Amino acid sequence: PVLVVDFGAQYAQLIARRVREAGVFSELVPHSITPDEVRQKNPVAIILSGGPRSVYAEGAPEFDTSVFDLGIPTLGICYGFQVMAKALGGEVAETGQREYGATDATLAGDGGVLLAGTPAAQTVWMSHGDAVVTAPDGFEVLAQTEATPVAAFGNADTCFYGVQWHPEVKHSDHGQRIIENFLHKAVGLPASWNSESVIDEQVARIREQVGSARVISALSGGVDSAVSTALVHRAIGDQLTAVFVDHGLLRKGEREQVENDYVASTGVRLVTVDAADTFLGHLAGITDPETKRKTIGREFIRAFEQAQRDLVAEAKAEGEPVKFLVQGTLYPDVVESGGGAGTANIKSHHNVGGLPDDLDFDLIEPLRTLFKDEVREIGRELGLPEAIVGRQPFPGPGLGIRIIGEVTRERLEILRDADAIARAELTAAGLDGEIWQCPVVLLADVRSVGVQGDGRTYGHPVVLRPVSSEDAMTADWTRLPYDVLARISNRITNEVAEINRVTLDVTSKPPATIEWE
Ligand code: XMP
Repeated sequence: PVLVVDFGAQYAQLIARRVREAGVFSELVPHSITPDEVRQKNPVAIILSGGPRSVYAEGAPEFDTSVFDLGIPTLGICYGFQVMAKALGGEVAETGQREYGATDATLAGDGGVLLAGTPAAQTVWMSHGDAVVTAPDGFEVLAQTEATPVAAFGNADTCFYGVQWHPEVKHSDHGQRIIENFLHKAVGLPASWNSESVIDEQVARIREQVGSARVISALSGGVDSAVSTALVHRAIGDQLTAVFVDHGLLRKGEREQVENDYVASTGVRLVTVDAADTFLGHLAGITDPETKRKTIGREFIRAFEQAQRDLVAEAKAEGEPVKFLVQGTLYPDVVESGGGAGTANIKSHHNVGGLPDDLDFDLIEPLRTLFKDEVREIGRELGLPEAIVGRQPFPGPGLGIRIIGEVTRERLEILRDADAIARAELTAAGLDGEIWQCPVVLLADVRSVGVQGDGRTYGHPVVLRPVSSEDAMTADWTRLPYDVLARISNRITNEVAEINRVTLDVTSKPPATIEWE
C-alpha cells in the first residue's frame, strides 16, 4: 500500500481517498509509527499529511524521521512537507506571513515530475504559518508563492517530494494531477486498484477464510450490510443466509425492496423475520426516547438470535456448522476506533439495532478497508439496485424514533405516507445528492387547528428535517428550494388525512441532533 501518515489534521482521510481515486491502494497510519512497523507494511510509497501545528511548537506531532533512511519514495504535504524539510537538512522558519486559503503559486522551471503538466501559474489551497525557506541539499525548488520561497521541492534521485499546499482539497486547481504525478510518474505505480480488483481480492479471501462452513449475515436494508452481504454471496453462494428483521418500523417499500429487488439482483438466500407485532407490543405505552431505543435494540437482538438458532440447528442437521457472521464495518470506523495517537476518538457508535456482541462467531468484514463512496461503487459493480446503493442513512430504530410520543400502528401508517411523499419529491427534484438525509418527524402528541374544505380540522404537524453533512457528526439544515418545500407540504396535507401542517427544522447540529429523539 501507500501509507498515509496522519499528523492529526482532518486531511489525512482525504489524502487516502485521493490516492485510491488514482487507482492505488492506501492505508492510514498514525504519526507514532516506527521504522520497523513501516518496514513490516512494505509500502510502495509514503505520504505525510498536513497537521495542525508548527513543527517547532511544543507538543507538535512527532515522527521518527529515521523512516526517511528506509529509502521509500515519500511525498510531504503541508506540515509533512516541513517535517521532511527539517529532517533532511533544510530550513523551516517562522516568516511571520501566514497564508490561508486560495493562494497563487508559480512553478520554478518546469515544476519537475511532480508538477509536470500543470500551468506555470495556478491557484493552490494553503494553510500554514511557518515556511520552508531553504530546501535540503540535493533538492530542487519546484514552485514558490509570494510569501513562501520554497512552496514545493523534489529530489528525483531519492524520490522525495513535497508541497506546502494541500493538493488533496478540491480548491487546489491541479491537486489530483499532482498526487497522480507522484504515484504514477515519480514512483511508477500503475493505476490498478479499482472496484473490480477489490471484489476479486475479497472473493478470494472470503473463500479461503470460510472453506465449506456456513455464514450468517444481518441485512438491515442499509448500504453497508447490503454490499457486504452481496460480496460474501458472490464468494460463497448459498453457504450464506441473510437474515432481515422486519420490526414494523421500516419506511414504505423498504421490506419489498429487500425481499424483491435485492434478492433478484443478488440471488441471496433470505430469511425475513416478521416481528412487527412483537415490537409494537413491547413499544406500547413508551414515550421516552432512550427507553424506546433500548426496547427496540433488545427486541432486535432477540429476533436475530431466534433466527440464528434456527439456522444453526438446520445447518447442524446438514453437517456444516455456522461459523461466521458478516459485518459491514467500514474503514472510518476502523480508523476511529483504533484511535492512533493524535486522532481523537470522537465518534459515538450507535449500536442500537445492531447485533449482540457476545455471539459465538468469527467475523467476516469485507468492507473494513473501504470508504463509503467506494462501498457504493462496489455495490454498483455487484449489480445492486441504485435505490439500495444510493440510500441515505436510516437509523436502526427506524420510524420508532421519528414519532414523538407513543409508537402505534396508526401513527406509523401516517408517518410512512408522509415520509414516502417527501422522499419521492426530493428525488424528483434531483436533490438526493445535496442532502445527507431528510427525516420526517411526526409530532404525534401535538394537535393543531386547520381548515380544509368547509370544515375545521384538528390534526398533527410533521417536521421536515433536511440536513447536509459529511459524516453526521456535524450537519447544517439544507436550504431546499421553496417550490420543492411547497410541493411536499401540499402533497402531504392533501394526501395524508391526519396531517394538517408541515413545518421545517432550521437548526444545525450542534446544537440540535439530526434525529429528534
Ligand atoms: P443524530 O441524531 O445523533 O444522528 O445527529 C446522527 C446519525 O445517526 C443516525 N442515528 C442512528 N443510527 N441507531 C442508528 O443506527 C440509532 O439509534 C441512531 N440515532 C441516530 C441518524 O439517522 C444520523 O444519520
